[in-house]
Amino acid sequence: MTAPTSQRPVMLTGGAGYIGSHTCVALHEAGHPVVVVDDFSNSHPRVLDRIETISGVRPSLERGDVLDTAWLCSVFERHDPAAVIHLAGVKAVGESVANPIKYFDINIGGSISLMKAMQAHRQQVGRLSPLVFSSTATVYGEPSRVPITEDFPLTFESPYAHTKLVVEQMLGAVGRSESSWKVAVLRYFNPVGAHRSGLIGEDPSGTPNNLMPFVSQVAVGRQAHLNVFGDDYPTIDGTGVRDYLHVMDLAEGHVRATQALMDGCDSFTVNLGTGIGHSVLQVVKAFEAACGKPIPYRIAARRPGDVAAYFADPGKAHKLLGWQARRDLGQMCSDAWAWQSLNPKGYREQE
Ligand code: WQD
Repeated sequence: MTAPTSQRPVMLTGGAGYIGSHTCVALHEAGHPVVVVDDFSNSHPRVLDRIETISGVRPSLERGDVLDTAWLCSVFERHDPAAVIHLAGVKAVGESVANPIKYFDINIGGSISLMKAMQAHRQQVGRLSPLVFSSTATVYGEPSRVPITEDFPLTFESPYAHTKLVVEQMLGAVGRSESSWKVAVLRYFNPVGAHRSGLIGEDPSGTPNNLMPFVSQVAVGRQAHLNVFGDDYPTIDGTGVRDYLHVMDLAEGHVRATQALMDGCDSFTVNLGTGIGHSVLQVVKAFEAACGKPIPYRIAARRPGDVAAYFADPGKAHKLLGWQARRDLGQMCSDAWAWQSLNPKGYREQE
């Protein structure tokens, strides 16, 4: 006997990670049970306790590697998910240049493994779960202009972006071969911030590559100063401009996309961004206002691979899903600071 769709869980691969934990909270808020699939290679089991504290509901947990297709098939048998959100993967651009095979294996191999498990489950139950795929704005490379719409040319500047583009293309091919595949591709701009409770947040291992967690660690005393990678770009103050998006806005975008597919919407691709660009120095100033401390910085050389400016045109997501970002840069910084000040060493605090 199949449970009604509303009682079947949404499967979150990588659900204990930064985006995953916030998406789990947003799914709970929307009334969806969740099964988290995670091997904790880039996350911490303590996240599940924090999710339960926030939402009063604990997600089911399946601990394992999405590359293990046989195990993943057993997960589908046990949970018969109403939808799948595929977040499990690796996303450090610099690391992907140094170790491209790891990125091809995990990001592309992991997605193939998931698609095979979904196909096997369909043979068991006679229906295919809708799939939401976590992609990235870096598939646009260096845009010829801004803001960026979904029909812009696609390319890649790093093995990381290459893997995301390949998976997008694989999903497109599968959808063309069998219309029963319903896929939402979400191209993230720059997710930052944390749930307003400060109980979950971004917890990068090692020295942060990204701006917001690095600034946050300067504020809490884990880093001495910020290196601003170039102040000679053709932007408002010479520093890089990006479309920073509150992670809870991003999470709510996942819920809207999942619900649209579950309601019978055809496959689609949307940008998830605010449509507003902020420079590095504007982020520093906003964070100083949020934390009440100076953020010392030095101008350093440009980082290879960086582009001057990119930000989204989020009009399609608004029109198709009724979604738009609701939180501004000030809230992104204050929520990021709430998380960092409550958890100076991230989830490893109590270890
Ligand atoms: C933002 C701006 C830097 C750090 C990357 C990935 C992308 C996505 C988000 C996965 C730039 C400047 C940064 C620092 C700095 N990840 N900066 N000093 O590069 O836009 O995007 O993360 O999906 O795929 O490419 O984000 O936060 O690294 O940089 O001056 O210590 O901050 O030059 O202008 P980016 P970022």
